[in-house]
Amino acid sequence: MPKPIYVLNGPNLNLLGQREPEVYGHATLDDVKDRVAARAEQFSLPIEFYQSNKEGELVDWIQEARAKACGLIINAGAYTHTSVAILDALLAADIPCVEVHLSNIFKREEFRHHSYISTACVGVICGFGVKSYELAVEALAERLETKRG
Ligand code: DQA
Repeated sequence: MPKPIYVLNGPNLNLLGQREPEVYGHATLDDVKDRVAARAEQFSLPIEFYQSNKEGELVDWIQEARAKACGLIINAGAYTHTSVAILDALLAADIPCVEVHLSNIFKREEFRHHSYISTACVGVICGFGVKSYELAVEALAERLETKRG
């Protein structure tokens, strides 16, 4: 069994489907989980899917991923724009990380244009709703396969 991809979701993403649907769409976080799991299964990769409103808990999961995961997908929510702690955890993780956002953060308020965590990530995918996560799985799977081969 290959190591899983860790998929981490930050604050307020538990409210997906109810929260500003005009920005984030109508899919719930459970829908996101199902679609990510289905896409990952096509690459024979298991997933571990988590959400927390607490910065420290996200840091703990990134540290766990360091040992237990083959790669990481993170939507850090608002912590994207504030958290040096999450950046440092990702820099220490030593596994490929992809940053995702449902919305196109560059089309929105200026404070969302800067991400603290992008420099620790292989790439950033934003603006495609739930599809952003599926594209991240695809990109990560391809990268892991390239490394293996
Ligand atoms: C978000 C964008 C962030 O700016 C915002 O704080 C979120 C969600 C997105 O997925 O579009 O909580 O990460």
